[in-house]
Amino acid sequence: RRKLPDYNTIDDAVRLLRESKNVIVLTGAGISTSLGIPDFRSKDTGLYSKLEHLGLSDPQEVFDIHVFREDPSIFFSIAKDILPTEKKYSPTHGFIKLLQDKGKLLTNYTQNIDNIEANAGVLPENIVQCHGSFATATCVKCEHKVSGDAIFGEIKAGNVPECNACRQIIEADALKPQGLKRKRSSNGGQKDRKEFEDSSDEEDYEIPTPGVMKPDITFFGEDLPDEFGRRLIHHDRELVDLVIVIGTSLKVAPVAEVPGILPRDIPQIYISRTPVSHTGFDIDLLGDCDVVVSELCRRAGWDLKHHMIPVD
Ligand code: OAD
Ligand code: ZN
Repeated sequence: RRKLPDYNTIDDAVRLLRESKNVIVLTGAGISTSLGIPDFRSKDTGLYSKLEHLGLSDPQEVFDIHVFREDPSIFFSIAKDILPTEKKYSPTHGFIKLLQDKGKLLTNYTQNIDNIEANAGVLPENIVQCHGSFATATCVKCEHKVSGDAIFGEIKAGNVPECNACRQIIEADALKPQGLKRKRSSNGGQKDRKEFEDSSDEEDYEIPTPGVMKPDITFFGEDLPDEFGRRLIHHDRELVDLVIVIGTSLKVAPVAEVPGILPRDIPQIYISRTPVSHTGFDIDLLGDCDVVVSELCRRAGWDLKHHMIPVD
């Protein structure tokens, strides 16, 4: 992407903010680090630098759907570290809310799964959670859905949460005489009790277990929510007049492609500690994002609120 000539300085950024009416804010883990939630790729503090003990060939495998299906305990051994807990939010979340209050927020595309935008009062209709969130969880076997809090206790304890709906079916089944004889459907027909007892090949028989409850976050190998592409391409692309990307390394597709998909004449601002080279932003405001947005608001004459300590 080639830079637009007219936008260079922080005051240009302030002018853009004041004049814009339809801002896309694209966020990543960097906007929550000031709340004590680690990002993923920062060298010593990021989650991925702390996963060597798991013995994965690539730490991103903790969010790989194939690995999860094979062994969900790997994900649940770290899930407690990224679980949203207290109702706090950073100045940067407050900044997104402020854009909403001023009627300027078109959409906040967030890659974050911490749901903290909601703590700041950003309305659900203004947010696309590109990588899902912990707000709900779904059984991998029967697709039973529960509210996220229903499994937070298990997650915090480092356990693999199991599906209650599956468990009820299994328990009801076990009361029936034929329950014991259920076998893998791939093996087709039924064997009678005698064969079951005689069989030395125990693997032939499925011991019924409840499905695992998987938080509805988008793992590598899973599709993003439909709303992501639908809203971006068929709605926002026509309307957007300013793009602000905050606290993301833009290393994960397809979100990383968003700046390149938007019309070339729309100015783009990048706010983060670390510059990115692969996308040409018009204005790079490098530093702590809370400090940067506070300064932008100060210069714009806007009153920025935040709650670094829990709201309730
Ligand atoms: P990354 O960890 O890749 O990038 C976070 C960026 O924010 C880095 O550039 C940091 O330098 C910067 N940063 C950290 N703290 C900051 C602060 N206080 N102020 C300003 N900048 C700060 O995280 P994401 O880009 O969000 O996906 O990662 C994208 C996706 O990769 C995640 O959604 C996750 C991960 O794998 C899934 O889990 C599916
Ligand atoms: Zn189930």
